[in-house]
Amino acid sequence: MTIEIQAESGQVLEQPCDALVLPILEGDANDWGGTALAVDTVLSGELRRLADEARFSGAIGTTFVLPTLGRLLARRIILTGIGRSVVADREAVRRGWGAAALATRAAGAATIVSETPPTLPLISTESALVAAAEGVRLALYQFNKYRGATRQGPSTRELTGFRFVDPALDQAAATRALHRAETTAAAVSLARDLGNEPASVLTPAAFAAEAERVGAAAGLTVEVLGPEQLTALGANAIVAVGRGSENEPRLIRMSYRPTERSAGNASGGQRVVGLVGKGITFDTGGYSIKTYEGMLEMKGDMSGAAAVLGTMSALRALDCQVAVEATICAAENMISGTAFRPGDILTALNGVTIEILSTDAEGRLVLADGLVDTARRGATELIDLATLTGAAVVALGEGTSALFASDEALAERLLAAATTAGERSWRLPLIEELNEKIKGTVGDIKNSGGRAGGAITAALFLRRFREGLPWAHFDIAGSSRRAKNGPLGPKGATGVGVLTLLAYLTEGGGEAG
Ligand code: BES
Ligand code: MN
Ligand code: ZN
Repeated sequence: MTIEIQAESGQVLEQPCDALVLPILEGDANDWGGTALAVDTVLSGELRRLADEARFSGAIGTTFVLPTLGRLLARRIILTGIGRSVVADREAVRRGWGAAALATRAAGAATIVSETPPTLPLISTESALVAAAEGVRLALYQFNKYRGATRQGPSTRELTGFRFVDPALDQAAATRALHRAETTAAAVSLARDLGNEPASVLTPAAFAAEAERVGAAAGLTVEVLGPEQLTALGANAIVAVGRGSENEPRLIRMSYRPTERSAGNASGGQRVVGLVGKGITFDTGGYSIKTYEGMLEMKGDMSGAAAVLGTMSALRALDCQVAVEATICAAENMISGTAFRPGDILTALNGVTIEILSTDAEGRLVLADGLVDTARRGATELIDLATLTGAAVVALGEGTSALFASDEALAERLLAAATTAGERSWRLPLIEELNEKIKGTVGDIKNSGGRAGGAITAALFLRRFREGLPWAHFDIAGSSRRAKNGPLGPKGATGVGVLTLLAYLTEGGGEAG
């Protein structure tokens, strides 16, 4: 259950272990270097011959497993492909080690020794090790909370240790790398846990309690507003969405301030990144009720908020240098005698009046108040994450987030961060002409622009609440859950957004890889 990941100096072939992981670059099929070659020699050329016969090429995410039958200290060799050297980035390394971790678990191995990633042109040794360790952690993630004692996930044998061994290890750099990877992977795991939790358990109040727990552990200030306070404030949109549920809405404010280095450097005028997450703990659609199929995965409609909370949990440990104001807009979209209805008109926190066409377009309503509140708390830029539209899934498929932005530089930096994170994101345009579709008839703005261009009209709606700040919006409806087990995580919540935001906040977008 608890797997320790370590890095130490030494020779991999001198380590007794259940499995030895060796990375293989694609296209180097004819000149395996270093350890793989040494192992092949000990095994009289069998490793190479069998790997070739199995058509193992070193392609990203492919593995080849060979038992060594006592001829080496390692009981089996696991070759893992990381693709072509010239294009291998952090994501290639993540997926390579993720696949290796899954292969070791499938083999029932408990103790693993691994080579460190090879020198690659696109990324530093240190960030390659971060990516490798992240890959191991993310791949092995499981949500076992509700499994019976007889079935604790895919493997009964427990993986206990994963040791990176390198003869020329820079111990200080390796310790830093593993610390970063543990922190980022724990943040992603937190977001996944929240996304996998049933809505009966993860109510808005439970979300707030979790935020308070995380805040206390990570040195953040947390403030929670319930329906009375929200009404007094004028945040009527989130209140309206939550009004149909016994589980009352919560707006959760979190703030992170960098640890002061030297006296007098935290003066006014500093940059404050505002993060806003859609936290619909369950989306029935309300009176504009969803179909059976459409409602199935709607416990995950809080994935934007989960990404925000996951991100916040890691900032202190990563010594983030920028201030962050985060807002989680938590509400349950249910049906009852007190629920809001089509035709209602709401006045959002900034005074903009919203005509409700569909109670199923609830995400943009809670975000409207969340964006305005974050701006008022001093944010100098706004980034929201939301499982906002089915249209974004239709446009880009599953596994890709749609990015919208009012600001070119912000968009560029976020796309660079997404690449570093291996979280595929694609920018979609804010087509001004489509504003027509959300023009109000009796109020200022309508909450639905209809089917055509649905992801864009939703983004145009949100833009009305950016309060003049540079703003970006990730529609993660397609990328927040995966339908099948993947190399970097099982079926269910992906925790998407966390790695992108952490790259953005702590690496300023990161290097090319
Ligand atoms: N939570 C849904 C969007 C969604 C769909 C997320 C599929 C994940 C997977 C959102 O609240 C919603 O219902 N959006 C509507 C908007 C429409 C009524 C304008 C949609 O996309 O159909
Ligand atoms: Mn909805
Ligand atoms: Zn929703």
